[in-house]
Amino acid sequence: MTDKKIFGVTALFNEPNAIISAARKVADAGFTKWDVNSPYPIHGIDKAMKMKPSKLGIVTLIFGLSGAVLALILMYWTMSVDYPMIIGGKPYFSLPAFIPVTFEVTVIMATLSTVVAMFAFFFGLPRNSHALHDTDYMKKVSRDHYGIVIEAIDPKFDEMATLQLLKDLKPITTEIIYHPEKENYPIFEPRFIALLVGVAVVVSIGTYLMLNKLVYIVPFDWMEKQAKVIPQSGSEFFADGRGMRLPVKGTVAKGFIPYPFEGETNPKEVLSNPYFPTKENLELGQRKYLTYCSPCHGNYGDGDSRLAGQFPNPPTLHSDRGRNFSDGMIYHIITVGQNVMPSYASQVTRDERWAIVNYIRALQRAKNATDADLKLVKAE
Ligand code: HEC
Repeated sequence: MTDKKIFGVTALFNEPNAIISAARKVADAGFTKWDVNSPYPIHGIDKAMKMKPSKLGIVTLIFGLSGAVLALILMYWTMSVDYPMIIGGKPYFSLPAFIPVTFEVTVIMATLSTVVAMFAFFFGLPRNSHALHDTDYMKKVSRDHYGIVIEAIDPKFDEMATLQLLKDLKPITTEIIYHPEKENYPIFEPRFIALLVGVAVVVSIGTYLMLNKLVYIVPFDWMEKQAKVIPQSGSEFFADGRGMRLPVKGTVAKGFIPYPFEGETNPKEVLSNPYFPTKENLELGQRKYLTYCSPCHGNYGDGDSRLAGQFPNPPTLHSDRGRNFSDGMIYHIITVGQNVMPSYASQVTRDERWAIVNYIRALQRAKNATDADLKLVKAE
């Protein structure tokens, strides 16, 4: 007996009120490493034991708040700084829209940190056995008794004095509990590990069979086969075996109006200009001309390219040929290009092209002003 290590002393009571007043006295005596065991939670026992609130809540609070802050910083950075997007006219940093994500991240960080902290610091893992396991004391407090245990690691513990203190509380019995000579449930024992592996294998195989084989025993395919065309895959429905179809001949994409003289070098017919050279229209034309045409044609259409010989210089737009072009012809040249000059259809929209045409007309008229034009200026 004597070479065994003492775990602590216990006292059993058969009445909840008795355990509450006993707990109060033990707490008053200044013990810290002790506990009360009962078959069900006893109302007011934590107060009688002078227990402080668990520190776990602090972990939850800190990580919950960090979750909220991190989520907000991430959303602020991505939505307002790195890749700002206007969604439904809302400001970049729109708090109401960010609340759901903030809430989720807060909850996730708080719960995960709580669970991790419990496993890492509060459960005392990997210890898997306890001196009270398999004792009469534990069996009784699990059924219809109420017990107090004072552990030997308590600084105030003294085998005889502490036992006497418990006896003075008038319990039914007291007992000295010793540490077991060997661990009750060693978790690294091969048999135990084999059990875990066995359970894992059985559960995996069972899940696999259930989800992939057993569910198909019933005459129902869980909607895996559906009468629909999957993009990029074949279909027996059509003679050529393809699932995806070419658009019907003559189909035009929404919002796109095809140019009728595409690919023609010298069209017999051209479009007519739908725009008056209003101030706005000329300003738009000037802006687009200076951006897209002036690098080669020069700011005033003289053919004085800024490209310093990197591209053949175009002819002046003020030649007779240039001035005799119809509006539709200039539009045609911008749209399909001419010889070395490429098409500018992808850079300038249809409306911008007509605005450029009007602007070129203004340039041409300015460079070849007649007396009538000059009078017009004077009159203004
Ligand atoms: C990369 C240089 C370059 C750019 C930019 C450019 N052009 Fe040209 N452009 C040329 C060249 C070179 C020619 C002469 C092509 C040829 O040999 O027929 C030309 C020819 C023309 C002609 C016919 C002139 C003629 O007398 O045959 C017109 C009109 C014209 N461009 C308008 C424009 C307009 C409008 C823009 C802006 C949307 C533009 N170009 C942008 C290089 C350019």
